[in-house]
Amino acid sequence: MPKIYKGNIIENKPIGGLFLLTVSIEEEISVNPGQFFLIRIDREDIVLRRAFSIFDVNGDRLSFLYRVVGRGTKWLSERRVGYTLNIFGPLGNGFSLCQGKSLLVGGGSGMAPLYYLGKRLREGIKFLLGAQTKDFWDDDLLLKYSNVGEIEVITEDGSLGKKGLVTEYIDTGYDRIYACGPVEMLKNIRVDIPTEISLETIIACGFGACRGCVVETKNGEYKRVCKDGPVFDLKEIF
Ligand SMILES: Cc1cc2nc3c(=O)[nH]c(=O)nc-3n(C[C@H](O)[C@H](O)[C@H](O)COP(=O)(O)OP(=O)(O)OC[C@H]3O[C@@H](n4cnc5c(N)ncnc54)[C@H](O)[C@@H]3O)c2cc1C
Ligand code: FES
Repeated sequence: MPKIYKGNIIENKPIGGLFLLTVSIEEEISVNPGQFFLIRIDREDIVLRRAFSIFDVNGDRLSFLYRVVGRGTKWLSERRVGYTLNIFGPLGNGFSLCQGKSLLVGGGSGMAPLYYLGKRLREGIKFLLGAQTKDFWDDDLLLKYSNVGEIEVITEDGSLGKKGLVTEYIDTGYDRIYACGPVEMLKNIRVDIPTEISLETIIACGFGACRGCVVETKNGEYKRVCKDGPVFDLKEIF
C-alpha cells in the first residue's frame, strides 16, 4: 500500500548530467522495479508533487536518478543532506520480471528505472543506453550499470560509443525488451519481441482518482499512467 514517508536525504549529488538522490525512510518496504514515488516540492508556487521512478532500493534506503528540467527538479537538486522530503508511494504497476534474455533500453533519464529492474532480473541482461552526447554520463554512472549487466552506449553525436539513435541498435536476440525514454524513442521500437515500456506524463493525484494522466491506447481506450501504468505493453500504446 502506498503511504507518505519522511525521506531523510542521505545523498543528493550530480552524477553525469543527472542527480542521484538517496533518502532513508526508516522502514524497509517492498518496491517493484518501474514503480514510482511522488515527491512534494516545498515551494508555495508548486502544487503538484513530482514523479520519480525508483532507481534503487537498499533496506530502508530509496534512490532516485533524476534530470533537472524545471522549477521542481531544480528545487530538489538544491536540497542538502539532512533535509526531510515528503515522499508518497510506491505507486503504479511496475515491470514484470520475466525469465530469459532481456534488453533494457534507456533514452536519457529514461535509464533511471532500468537499474533496479536489472538488479532484480539479475541474469541475461544488457543495457542499451542512449543520450545526445557523452557528457550525459560520467564514469561512476556507467560503472553502476556495468556492475549489474553488460552495457552498450549510443550517442547522437558519436562522442561516446556508437553514433545515432539508441533504437537503431536494438537487436532481436532477446526474449523481452524493457524500455523507458522520450515518446519518440518508444515509438521507434519496431521489433517483434514482447516489449514493456514505461511512460511519463504530468501526474496529479498519483493513485488513479483524478484521471489527469490518461493516455489513449491504440484501440481508443483511455488508461491512467499512474494506476494502470506507468508500464504498458508497447503494442497497447503504439
Ligand atoms: C511515472 C513517472 C516516472 C518518472 N521518473 C523519472 C525519473 O526517474 N527521473 C527523472 O528525471 N524524471 C522522471 N519523471 C519525469 C519527472 O516527473 C519530471 O521531469 C518532473 O516532474 C519535472 O518537474 P519540474 O518541476 O522540474 O519541471 P516543470 O517546471 O514542471 O516542467 C519543465 C519542463 O519539463 C517538462 N515536463 C514536466 N513534467 C514532465 C514529465 N512528467 N515528463 C516529461 N516532461 C515533463 C515540461 O513540459 C517542461 O517542458 C517521471 C515522470 C513520471 C510520470
Ligand atoms: S494522476 Fe490522478 S488519475 Fe493519474
